[in-house]
Amino acid sequence: MSTSILEARHITKRFGGLTANEDVSLHLTGDPGQVVSVIGPNGAGKSTFFKMLSGFLTPSSGQILLFGQDITGMSPHKVARLGLVRTFQETTIFPDLTAMEHVSLAHQLHRTASDLEVVLRLPRARQDEQVLAQSSRDILALMELSASADTQARYLPQGLLRLLGIAMGLAAKPKVLLLDEPYAGLNPEETHRAVAITRKIAASGVTVLLVEHDMKAVMAISDRIHVLYFGKKIAEGTPEEIRNNPQVIEAYLGQEDEELGL
Ligand SMILES: Nc1ncnc2c1ncn2[C@@H]1O[C@H](COP(=O)(O)OP(=O)(O)OP(=O)(O)O)[C@@H](O)[C@H]1O
Ligand SMILES: [Mg+2]
Repeated sequence: MSTSILEARHITKRFGGLTANEDVSLHLTGDPGQVVSVIGPNGAGKSTFFKMLSGFLTPSSGQILLFGQDITGMSPHKVARLGLVRTFQETTIFPDLTAMEHVSLAHQLHRTASDLEVVLRLPRARQDEQVLAQSSRDILALMELSASADTQARYLPQGLLRLLGIAMGLAAKPKVLLLDEPYAGLNPEETHRAVAITRKIAASGVTVLLVEHDMKAVMAISDRIHVLYFGKKIAEGTPEEIRNNPQVIEAYLGQEDEELGL
């Protein structure tokens, strides 16, 4: 039997009279390192779904399991500890801090030594600092940000700030990483680079769950794609299957800003 990584069972989310997700199920199984995308027109419920998976919202009904453990309604912090992380929003970027300091800061949240040990500078804390500094450098290298390690965030272009946000998420050592529109606002060159880096993250053994409107990027990067439409899941399959699915094509017809890359 293949490993169960993440499972959403019959998730429904209501905001008053509005049903943002209705009976959405998704089962991510198999080897780590896959890229799985959730697509759908604006307002389809993609971000709502991600917020439930990562503990920022509680489903009205349904169940979420991470590696077989029920995480429904758990806090984002607890969910992150169990290995599922949603990337930091850009608002958590501090203009005066360098790229390296951002990743180190994100690491602080996940250090193993207690505060007291850090204050007393006990060996474990010192060792931790070295390990964390190395880990920060490794993450910056993976994200191709090494050259910007000592640059203050205020001087980093939009494309690199996006990558820095993802780097901060990686500091939590996730097994599953949720990226909600990581390429939005990037130019084609930046998108191309960010897609290649997303592949590298997956190749390092992190399962990536992606919400993205850039269909060219989605088709190129995804192992599997799930499609939401008005809160319901209408299709699931390989990029090829999704591209040729009549219901999906229908759902996207008339969407000027979103093309299926047909
Ligand atoms: N906190 C909230 N309270 C009330 N309604 C909400 C809330 N969050 C989302 N919604 C509504 O739920 C629906 C789904 O929103 P959601 O943000 O999940 O869509 P989305 O697929 O991520 O859209 P987009 O592609 O534009 O990011 C929308 O109609 C939205 O207005
Ligand atoms: Mg959204």
